[in-house]
Amino acid sequence: MPKTAAKSLAPRGRAGADRERGRRVLLVVTGGIAAYKTPELVRRLRETGLAVRCVLTRAGREFVAPLALAAVSEDKVYDDLFSLTIESEMGHIRLSREADLVVVAPATADILAKLAAGLAGDLASTLLLATDKPVLAAPAMNVRMWEHPATQANLATLRQRGVVFVGPEEGDMACGEWGMGRMAEPETIVEAVAAFLALKTTGPVGALAGTRALVTSGPTWEALDPVRYVANRSSGKQGHAIARALARAGARVTLVTGPVALADPPGIATVHVESAREMLEACERALPADVAVCAAAVADWRAANPARSKIKKTGRPLSLALAENPDILGTLARAGARRPRLVIGFAAETGDLVANARKKLAAKGCDWILANDVSADTGVFGGDVNTVEFVTRAGTESWPALSKDALAARLAARVADALGSGRSAKSRKRSRR
Ligand code: PMT
Repeated sequence: MPKTAAKSLAPRGRAGADRERGRRVLLVVTGGIAAYKTPELVRRLRETGLAVRCVLTRAGREFVAPLALAAVSEDKVYDDLFSLTIESEMGHIRLSREADLVVVAPATADILAKLAAGLAGDLASTLLLATDKPVLAAPAMNVRMWEHPATQANLATLRQRGVVFVGPEEGDMACGEWGMGRMAEPETIVEAVAAFLALKTTGPVGALAGTRALVTSGPTWEALDPVRYVANRSSGKQGHAIARALARAGARVTLVTGPVALADPPGIATVHVESAREMLEACERALPADVAVCAAAVADWRAANPARSKIKKTGRPLSLALAENPDILGTLARAGARRPRLVIGFAAETGDLVANARKKLAAKGCDWILANDVSADTGVFGGDVNTVEFVTRAGTESWPALSKDALAARLAARVADALGSGRSAKSRKRSRR
């Protein structure tokens, strides 16, 4: 269990801090035998301080009584898309929008297929289609259904769209078979929910006061000619979230960003650049810093000789000579006296995550690497969720799937721990004078 999640699971009673902040889980219970565990799940979620509201499908009613869910959630149970009473009190759109997280447990093969196909025939599927909130699903089904190519294709589609999965687990099944398909235990689901939500709005407020941070974010664009460029799929969401989390912790942050469609984070000095060489220059100007986090997806190559005018078609294949770009992370890590005390990079990989991250840690000379799998089906580029291996010289930690904000807050907490009460870059600069 991740340590921070464990901490956040301590029962805090009804007056828990989360509930005071009005944070809510919408639990969609669909029709699998594991639905009998959902009153226990609701009880445990509420112990963390979260408010829980339940939606029950018609098949779900066969396995768990609405009254049981209403009693443990201390709320009405919603089960009918067409009930005028419910629609007038609480439209299905509002139902999903009022939640911080939608949890589907158990998530049957049927609801996953509906969600993947965009079907909206009942309250559960309609609100899942209508929601703008993250969705965490705990699949539960027979092992053959789980292994079926249709289910696996649906899972891949949903992962790509940012749905986070917890479980299933291997074991004996209600149908007498053995294999993968048991719903994760309620405490495991609660851990995943806590990890996903717990640090989203908290993080170490004020713990980095007096420090300076440099964050890179977004892609770089490398011009081929005045019209065209080479780029990548980074949206800047992860880097910007890190800049916000460090600023929330009290650091004075400079954010150096490539071209993104995001607004500049309020209160953060944001420098806009296009190419890798411009990004390096801006980073060097931002020194000294106590911590540098390189989350930008910097192009490794640029056109060796970008054309001055638009390249014309000739009917023949076009060859482009590429030159290697400077390595910003490596440069910051080897900046001698100007080296930030903590230099952190990412590794964007499509295989051998940890082995490649270790190679990068050594080659670039940084202190920590957050390795994320950016294969097309993970939805990391541009999505709101990220799952990283946190790699240091001391070892590797697997962090659970987190919203990019929660990941940023967790990283900010680690930065605050590592920098401790040491002197800031500013005070070190003063004492060198
Ligand atoms: O922006 P999002 O859509 O939210 O997606 C987030 C992300 C996937 C872009 C982010 O989490 C991430 O992985 N960022 C690093 C992407 C990358 O360039 O990885 P890399 O493995 O190619 O590079 C390793 C490290 O070296 C990175 O810290 C990178 O910033 C740095 N680098 C790479 C090349 C270069 N010329 N200079 C660098 O500083």
